[in-house]
Parts: sequence; structure tokens; C-alpha cells
Amino acid sequence: MRVVLVAVISLDGCLTRHHDEGASWASAADKQHFASALADADVYLMGSTTYTEARDNIRKRLDSGHRRIIITRTPEKYEHDTVRGQLEFTSDTPHQIADRMRADGHRRCAVLGGGEIYNLFLGSGVVYEMQLTLEPRVFGDGKRLAGASTAIDPKLSLTKVDHLSDDTLLLTYRRSE
Ligand SMILES: NC(=O)c1ccc[n+]([C@@H]2O[C@H](COP(=O)([O-])OP(=O)(O)OC[C@H]3O[C@@H](n4cnc5c(N)ncnc54)[C@H](OP(=O)(O)O)[C@@H]3O)[C@@H](O)[C@H]2O)c1
Repeated sequence: MRVVLVAVISLDGCLTRHHDEGASWASAADKQHFASALADADVYLMGSTTYTEARDNIRKRLDSGHRRIIITRTPEKYEHDTVRGQLEFTSDTPHQIADRMRADGHRRCAVLGGGEIYNLFLGSGVVYEMQLTLEPRVFGDGKRLAGASTAIDPKLSLTKVDHLSDDTLLLTYRRSE
């Protein structure tokens, strides 16, 4: 079972354009890549802030055959949203979640953000691969790739560079320790 982190960032490491929610600022080329990364995974992991922003869309697509795990310190708050096997809420650690997904027979978990959850997973050592789209944008202000109060320093190796378009790069990193 592999845990793969998928994110799109500006050249200055922003996940969001200023204080706007979401990643609608990303290019069509990234959106195509993101759709194929979603299709490749059978589990999606995200933080409660990203979930709350995308809640209506996520709930519309619950029968897609994927399992969504939302990370929150207060899973009991989301009891009414829970659909067992499709939309679940947990305060488990990344290792506990990965172990549970492995035991349940899943093969690929996509970590979909946002910044706090990227920080949590990159700091935990469970991420096998990071797929980072780099857009030719500079925002100066916005949520950062691994923005949280916890300092981390994972060791990664660049394994692949793809041009998603003339302007947009896809950088693939693997854990190197
Ligand atoms: N560019 C991209 O690729 C991309 C991807 C995804 C999201 N985004 C954007 O990023 C923004 C959200 O990022 P964010 O950093 O603010 O929020 P986030 O990572 O989506 O979620 C943060 C929440 O995760 C929970 N959490 C964090 N650490 C935890 C821990 N150790 N244990 C249990 N739960 C924990 C907490 O939920 P509770 O408060 O419920 O306890 C926390 O409030 C959004 O604007 C979103 O649109 C961009």
C-alpha cells in the first residue's frame, strides 16, 4: 500500500492564491493531472478545512467507489456526514491510518492536503511519493505547501520531471531514507 502526496503550488510555495479557498487558480494541465492522480488512488485523505470547502462536491460523488478519510481532532463533530466505507472522519495518526488502509486491502492512498495535512504526512515518514505540480505563478501570500506550526525536514529525492504543458512542471519525489 502506497501513500502518495498530490499538490499544486506556485513558484513561491503557495497552495492558495492569497486568501482565496481552493486551487482553482491551477492550470488546465494540472487539473488533468489531478484527475488522473485521483483515478489512480482508491483512498483520498484530507484535512477538515479542505473537506469543509469541498464538502458539497465530495458528497455528490460518494458513489465513485473511493474511500475518503478526513483528518480532524474532533471526528465526533462530523458524525452526521459519515458514510461508512466512503466518507469517514478520524483523529488517528498517519501511521495508524496507513496501517488500517493496508489491513483493509487498499493499494494507494492519495494525500490531498491542505497545508497542515501535508505537513503532518511529510513529517510522519509514511509518504512514499510526492507529486508536486509547479505553476508559473507568484502570490507572495497564501497557504503554504507544508504550512503548520510543526517544523519538519523530510529527505526526498527527485525521481522524475515532466512537462504537463510548456509552462507547468510536474516534479515527482520519493522518500530517500
Ligand atoms: N494547492 C493545492 O494542491 C491544495 C490542496 C488541498 C487544499 N488546498 C487548500 O489549502 C487550504 C486548506 O489548508 P489548511 O492547511 O488550512 O487545512 P487542512 O490541512 O485542509 O486541514 C487542517 C485541519 O486538519 C486537522 N488536523 C491538522 N493536524 C491534525 C492532527 N495532527 N490530528 C488530527 N487532525 C489534524 C484539523 O482539523 P480540526 O480543526 O477539525 O481538528 C485542522 O484544522 C484550503 O484553502 C484548500 O483549498 C490546496
